[in-house]
Amino acid sequence: MSQLPFLPFSKPVIDEATISAVGDVLRSGWITSGPRVQAFEAQLSEFFGGRPVRTFNSGTCTMEIALRIAGIGAGDEVITTPISWVATANVILEVGATPVFADIDPITRNIDLDRLEAAITPRTRAIIPVYLAGLPLDMQRLYGIARKHGLRVVEDAAQALGSSWNGQRIGATGDLVSFSFQANKNVTCSEGGCLVLSNADEVRLAEKYRLQGVTRSGFDGLDVDVLGGKFNMTDVAAAIGLGQFAHIEAITAHRRELAKHYFASFGSDFEAKYGAQLPPADFTNSNWHLFQLVLPERKDGKPARATFMEQMQELGVGIGYHYPPIHLLSLYRERGFKQGMFPVAERVGRLIVSLPMFSTMRKSDVERSVAAVKAVLQGA
Ligand SMILES: Cc1ncc(COP(=O)(O)O)c(C=O)c1O
Repeated sequence: MSQLPFLPFSKPVIDEATISAVGDVLRSGWITSGPRVQAFEAQLSEFFGGRPVRTFNSGTCTMEIALRIAGIGAGDEVITTPISWVATANVILEVGATPVFADIDPITRNIDLDRLEAAITPRTRAIIPVYLAGLPLDMQRLYGIARKHGLRVVEDAAQALGSSWNGQRIGATGDLVSFSFQANKNVTCSEGGCLVLSNADEVRLAEKYRLQGVTRSGFDGLDVDVLGGKFNMTDVAAAIGLGQFAHIEAITAHRRELAKHYFASFGSDFEAKYGAQLPPADFTNSNWHLFQLVLPERKDGKPARATFMEQMQELGVGIGYHYPPIHLLSLYRERGFKQGMFPVAERVGRLIVSLPMFSTMRKSDVERSVAAVKAVLQGA
């Protein structure tokens, strides 16, 4: 057992100013959606080049509302990746549409754009690209495909706040762009999400869908003309978000430094020597939400990931895994998906692990994590 304190794979970092701001909200007499939500939305909008932004109480409902705004429903197909948090596909089912998966690229671990285009049918209405670990897709190609086939794009940028593509911030361009502020994200509200929109009609719909479909007018006018839910962010959550968001540039820069240090510590012979696969070494586009390795299979036939996670835990290092392939989960198997349909996703989904990466991590933590990985893989 290691004598050092356990190194978790992720850790939220809430500073004292944020804790105090939450206290202010709790003492203020107004604890649901109010001035903090408005301030958070205004700051996010500025970050995304002035595009309108609305917040919600999770990244999941943000995506669902984006699909509703895009008019996606029964009879429509939506193409996405099998390697994402299950929320990405669940929201497609939630609006009554049909999820269609396309296999991933083994290097980026994001949806393979050739396969995406091949999966388009006359019923396809939208695509949901996911930027796994914060690494974007080739945005020019993605939007080129969408335009060519007349498709809406709901970007699942849950993990990509602060990421960019060729100097353009993710969210500053594009169709409907959804982010998550769940506890592990680079910027958290404890739970929450936001949607970047394009025009006043979309904003009106977003506001209706997040609060029971309500439109208010005058002192007491109230009508409901669409079926909405209860998806508003509270000022308590927004106060956390504002406190975190104030550090977005420093958070992204630090994570990029940590990622560089991971590569330096693994060394250029790591993949050849240990048979594991590092992520693409992208230090300008990715926000390094996660640092993910694809493990080699084990020679003794034991399950590679479970054994790795257990042995890393014994060495005092926490490991996450993101994600098991969605199409092999029971809910999706019941809909006809089966083993063998997306072989790259199946291999990556079986062997991918997330190493420690969080905003207050130090370079010495990276070295400890890498030493543990090498020690465990040496014996595999
Ligand atoms: C890729 C991806 N999509 C969607 C979500 C859903 O976000 P939330 O947990 O805020 O509902 C997450 C968050 O875990 C995610 O990582």
